[in-house]
Amino acid sequence: MSGGGSNLRALLEAAATADYPARVVAVGSDRPDAGGLDVAAEFGIPTFTVALEDFGNRADWGDELLSQIEQWRPDLTVLSGFMRLLPPAVVGALSPDLINTHPAYLPEFPGARGVRDALAAGATETGASLIVVDNGVDSGPVIAQERVAVLPGDTETTLHDRIKPVERRLLIDAVRAIALGTLDLKELARS
Ligand code: GAR
Repeated sequence: MSGGGSNLRALLEAAATADYPARVVAVGSDRPDAGGLDVAAEFGIPTFTVALEDFGNRADWGDELLSQIEQWRPDLTVLSGFMRLLPPAVVGALSPDLINTHPAYLPEFPGARGVRDALAAGATETGASLIVVDNGVDSGPVIAQERVAVLPGDTETTLHDRIKPVERRLLIDAVRAIALGTLDLKELARS
């Protein structure tokens, strides 16, 4: 997670309910100032930060990030608002049990500015996607996605604010299905 952590908060709220079948074991960030770290602390979830700036190269950063993640032995790693590409060694070790939310209807508008790019293209609809992370930019298998209309007068903020609740629902539903075994990421990634 790199950012404010509204998707993270939604997942932590879901995971705190007795009938939700998944638990969050740790929250990691590439930025010490990411708001999501405070959200995790609020829920009593351990956190770690591995900042790229503290390493000489991306491969070493990725190795430390992977080692921090693996310490927690997660069944699933969720990227949420993580705004950097992961080094291939990290993707190779974790995928397909590595998923990411994206504020557009992939393969439309991949990359760091999905909402802005949809507006700039004059799209009348965009969406939210949940994907398995592969080594491309938002190019992995789609787990779930849903359309969101672009309304006249929409700004990046108003449009993103309507996309985010859809992202949250897709994420919470998919994590539930993965935990229950009704959604098999390995099978999805093979097909
Ligand atoms: C979310 O819309 C997420 O899909 C997006 O950043 C936002 C983070 O919001 N991620 C990307 O654009 C990744 N390319 P949050 O920090 O409030 O959860």
